[in-house]
Amino acid sequence: MQPPARVLVVNGPNLNLLGTRRPDIYGSTTLADLEAACRSWGTELGVTVDTFQSNHEGAIIDRLHLAREDADAIIINPGAFTHYSYAIYDALDAVELPTVEVHISDVTRREAWRQQSVIGPACVATIFGRGIDGYRAALRHLIYRAAMPLTTLRYGSHPDQVGDLRVPHGPGPYPVVVLIHGGFWRRPWRRDLMDGLAVDLTDRGVATWNIEYRRGPDSWREALSDTVAAVDHLASLAGGHQLDLDRVALVGHSAGGQLALWAAARARLAADSPLTSPIITPRLAVALAGVVDLAEATSDHLGDDAVEEFFGGLPDDTASPRHMVPLGLPQVIAHGTADDRVPVAYSRAYVEEARAAGDAIDFLEFEAADHRVLIDQRSEEWGKIATMTIERLTES
Ligand code: DQA
Repeated sequence: MQPPARVLVVNGPNLNLLGTRRPDIYGSTTLADLEAACRSWGTELGVTVDTFQSNHEGAIIDRLHLAREDADAIIINPGAFTHYSYAIYDALDAVELPTVEVHISDVTRREAWRQQSVIGPACVATIFGRGIDGYRAALRHLIYRAAMPLTTLRYGSHPDQVGDLRVPHGPGPYPVVVLIHGGFWRRPWRRDLMDGLAVDLTDRGVATWNIEYRRGPDSWREALSDTVAAVDHLASLAGGHQLDLDRVALVGHSAGGQLALWAAARARLAADSPLTSPIITPRLAVALAGVVDLAEATSDHLGDDAVEEFFGGLPDDTASPRHMVPLGLPQVIAHGTADDRVPVAYSRAYVEEARAAGDAIDFLEFEAADHRVLIDQRSEEWGKIATMTIERLTES
């Protein structure tokens, strides 16, 4: 698939009032500024962005029809039409262009009627609760989808129990990296965060399984059990996609680092845990700027008390990587010294204790690197992490 050259950004009713409409919810950026930002993000990413806003359902539908002639992909914030316009759903379905649904606010934490989208099923992804930046994430996602073909597959019946599988060119069987995104386990942050790494690793000859996981009312149990279910699901995918199940690595960023280390070590958990019998035994675990110490993260109020929100109270020690050492498998731990989200001190202390307990760890500490640069596939830091990960995963 060719990367999209032209992306149409459509905003629905009341979004013309951005800047003055409920700034507490939607922020202070005006529609004109948002559209200008979309155009300049497009220029940075090498795509032409065209924008359209209307308060009228029919006008939006007419513009979507026109997109068949003048666009390769669509980003749409349908405003309140999201929640009931089957006509807009039908238009998107008919136009058959890859479409990302965007909401500025976190609709999952608002009135019940906002939590239903009739548009979503016509879209390849939904991005919500990230403010204006959600439009940039949508643009990026459209570009990465096209850069390297992917198949979205289910590992369970919930809509969030899915993953994107990308398989390299050339003969298999392929080593596999399971990518586990972060975002302090909060709902707006989804697997598109790891799109760039997935494309890069697949380019380097590794199959990637970029997973989503539930964050519902019982968030930590859902996220942890989904992570292991997604990993074990590789067993069902291996035959059809030439995956080498003896060479599987779990790679998590930030909160996803906690999930990756926990899932990799689960064979060592208490014998009465329902999650202790792995089908897949990973060869390597990688934590990038990982939240590897839940007790410390709790007392530091990391991410506005993200740990307590995730656990609905104090964390369960058995889910904290630092508490679980030795994990019993080789690890790559990477952290930047300028990380203002998750302190590098967490990784330093973790590495010291895990090594003392007998784990083999490559520790990559990056001078002056921040939290996000480790998952920017263009960065030097990621280049080093990718090389080390593949080396450890494939050495005999
Ligand atoms: C919105 C959320 C919708 O529920 C609402 O009707 C909007 C904006 C958002 O961007 O968060 O108009 O789509």
